[in-house]
Amino acid sequence: MEKKIQELVSKMTLEEKIGQMCQVDPGVFGSEEEVKEAVRNGQLGSLLNLIGAEKVNAIQKVAVEESRLGIPLMIGRDVIHGYRTIFPIPLGMAASWNEELVKEAAAIAAKEAASEGINWTFAPMIDVSRDPRWGRIAESGGEDPLINAMVARAMVQGFQGEDLSDPMTIAACAKHYIGYGAAEGGRDYNTTIIPDIYLYNVYLPSFRAAVDAGVATVMTAFNDINGIPASGHQRNVRGILKQDLGFDGFVVSDWASIQEMMAHGYAADEKHAAQLGLSAGVDMEMASRTYANHLQELLEEGKITMEWIDDAVKRILRVKFRLGLFDHPYVDESLADSVLVHPQHLTVARKLAEESMVLLKNNNDLLPLKKGTKVALIGPMVDQPYEQLGTWIFDGNENDSKSVLEAFYEYNGESNTFFAEGLKYTRDKSTKGFAEVEKAIAKSDVVVAVVGEEAILSGEAKSLAELDFVGAQNQLLQLAASKGKPVVMVVMSGRPGGLYKTQHLAGAILYAWHPGTMAGPALVNLIFGESVPSGKLPVTFPKGEGQAPIYYAHKMSGRPADSSSWTHIDDIPVKAVQHSLGNTNHTLDYGFTPLYPFGYGLSYTTFEYSDISLSSDKIKMGDVLKVFATITNTGKVQGTEIVQLYTRDLVGSYTRPVKELKDFRRVTLKPGESKTVTFELKTDELGFYLPDGNYVVEPGEFHVWIAPNAAEGLQSEFWLE
Ligand code: GLC
Repeated sequence: MEKKIQELVSKMTLEEKIGQMCQVDPGVFGSEEEVKEAVRNGQLGSLLNLIGAEKVNAIQKVAVEESRLGIPLMIGRDVIHGYRTIFPIPLGMAASWNEELVKEAAAIAAKEAASEGINWTFAPMIDVSRDPRWGRIAESGGEDPLINAMVARAMVQGFQGEDLSDPMTIAACAKHYIGYGAAEGGRDYNTTIIPDIYLYNVYLPSFRAAVDAGVATVMTAFNDINGIPASGHQRNVRGILKQDLGFDGFVVSDWASIQEMMAHGYAADEKHAAQLGLSAGVDMEMASRTYANHLQELLEEGKITMEWIDDAVKRILRVKFRLGLFDHPYVDESLADSVLVHPQHLTVARKLAEESMVLLKNNNDLLPLKKGTKVALIGPMVDQPYEQLGTWIFDGNENDSKSVLEAFYEYNGESNTFFAEGLKYTRDKSTKGFAEVEKAIAKSDVVVAVVGEEAILSGEAKSLAELDFVGAQNQLLQLAASKGKPVVMVVMSGRPGGLYKTQHLAGAILYAWHPGTMAGPALVNLIFGESVPSGKLPVTFPKGEGQAPIYYAHKMSGRPADSSSWTHIDDIPVKAVQHSLGNTNHTLDYGFTPLYPFGYGLSYTTFEYSDISLSSDKIKMGDVLKVFATITNTGKVQGTEIVQLYTRDLVGSYTRPVKELKDFRRVTLKPGESKTVTFELKTDELGFYLPDGNYVVEPGEFHVWIAPNAAEGLQSEFWLE
C-alpha cells in the first residue's frame, strides 16, 4: 500500500495535494454544480453532511471517473450514538461498563451509516469530562481515563471492524484532541489550563487507547490549552500524537477550528492560521478554507514545507486505501432498506439502554413493580419519542422511537396506566396541567414520574450554570410526593444533574440518561423486573452545581476532609470564634462528598463483598499481583454486579490521586451464589507519566480495593519494592 501511495503522490500536482487536505460541507460550499466542479478539479478530498447512497454515489462518480487521478472522497458524518437506530448517549453507554455491547452498537451504527454512503464518522468522542455544567459531557465516557479508554477501544473496533475495507465498516475519529472537556467553568469552547502531568495521566490515555486500537483519524479540538489552540499545537499533534504515540492515520481539524485561531488571537489572519494549522500537523481542514486559499503561497514563501504537505496527503491516502475506496468507491444502493432500524438493531439498542440505566435508590424494594399495578405515569419525558433520543441524532427518526407511554400501555395495560404529563416539556413553567396529574394519582397506587432534560439542553454549546431540574419539574415532583403514594423517579438527562431538591421525595430513582430509540421497552423491562439494573455511574453525581468540578480520583491535599472535620453550616454556633479546628478541604454547606459516587449503582438484589486477599503483600518490579475477593448474591433475584478494582499510590514524586480505577469485572450471580473474583495487577499499571511524558513506576506502599463503587469496598495493602 505504501508503494501505491508513494506512486500516487508523485503524480499529484500541488493543487491536487492541497485538494486532498480540504473537507467541506457541500451545503455550505456552494451549489451542486460548484461542488462537482471542485471535485472534478481535484480540489476536495472529503465532504461532510452529505447523506443518501444515491447522492453520495453521484458525487463519488465525479471524483473517481471525471477527476484526473480518480481519488475517491471520504464522506464524513457525526454518527455519535447510532445512525438511524439510536443507542443511549455515550455517557449512558459508558454507564453500562459493557465494552462488548458498546462495540456491537458501534458496529451496527457503522452498518447503517455505510448503507447510506457514509464511510467516516466523527466518533468516538473521548474527552474526559469532570464538569456536569459542560453540555458535551453527554457525548463523553465520563470522568475516568480508563472508562473513556474502554469507550475508545469499543467504538473504534466497532466502527472499523476487523477489516476497514469491509464496505459495512467506516473510519472512526478520536476526538477532540485534546483536553476539550477541561473547559473553564464548564462553558463550551472555553480556555483550558492543563499541566502536562494532567495531560498525560488524565486526557491522553483515551487517545492512546484509540491509537492502539487502530483509529483511522483524530480530530483536533476548539479549545486553547495553556494559551495554545489545540488545532495549532505542534508539540501535542506532531510531537505526542504522531511521533510518540506513532499515530499513522490523519488529523482533521474541528469545524473551522483552524480559522478560529484568529478569534483566539493566535493567528493574525487566515494565511497565518493555515501556516499554524499545518505546521502543527493538522492534515485536513474541516469547513474553513484557509488551506485552499493560502498553502500554495505559504509554500512559495518557505513558511511551510512540501514535506509537511506530502506527509498530510500520504496520511489521507493511507486511510482511503485502508477503507478500500480505490477498489470499491460506490455504495450498494439497495442496502439501506434492509439495514436501517433492523429488528436485531433495536434489540441491541434496548439491551444497551437497559444496561446503561443506573438505579440510584430503591427504598423498601419499591422496584420492581408488579405487572398490572395501578400506575400514575406523569412528567414531561413520558411521551417524548424525540427527546428520549438525546443530543447528536442527525439521522435518528422519532417515528422509530418506542416511548415510555406506549411501552407502559403495551406491558401494563391502558386500564392500569393513568397518564398525565403535567408539563408539556421539561422547561414548561406552567402548572395548569397539574390538576390532571392529581386525578391520575388519585386512581393509582404508585406514581412513576419521568423527568429530566429535553435533548437540546445538552450537547455542543449547551452548557448550564444551574443543574437542578428546569421548568416546574420540582413543583411537579413535590405535588406527586404530597399524595402519600410512593414515587418512582425516572430521569432522562444528558448529564449528572437535577435531583438536588427532590431526590428525597422519591422512594426509587432510575437514572436513564437519554436512552435512545428503545427507551420505552428498556425502562418498562427494568421497572417491572423483566431485567435487573446493572449500570454504574461513569461520572460523580454532585450535590449541586456548586460542587463542580468534583470527581473520585482527586488529590488528598494537605488537609483532607473527613466527617469529623466538617461542621454543617447550620450547626456552627452563632458568633462562633475563629478557630483552626476542622480546617480541611470541604465546603460548609455541602461538605466534601458527592450525592452519588463514581461507580455507584444498585440492583434488585444485594451483593456482599468478603475475604479480600492478595497473592503477596510484597512485590517486585515486573511481578503480577493477584487480588481476590468473594462476591455473594445475598438477595432474592439473579443480578449482575460490576466489581471494580482501585489502587492508591500513597507516596509519589508527584502527589497521586486518592484512588484510580485499574480494572473491573461483570459478575452474574444467582440468589445465594458466591464467586471468587480474581484481578491480576501488573506493576506497570501502578505507575504514572511525569510532565515530560516518561512513564515511571515508583516503589512504596500501595492500597488496593475491590469495590462496588469509588466510595466503599474491601481494602488491602501491599509494598512494591
Ligand atoms: C462540531 C463538533 C464536532 C463535529 C464537527 C462536525 O462543531 O465540535 O464534534 O464532529 O463539528 O459536525
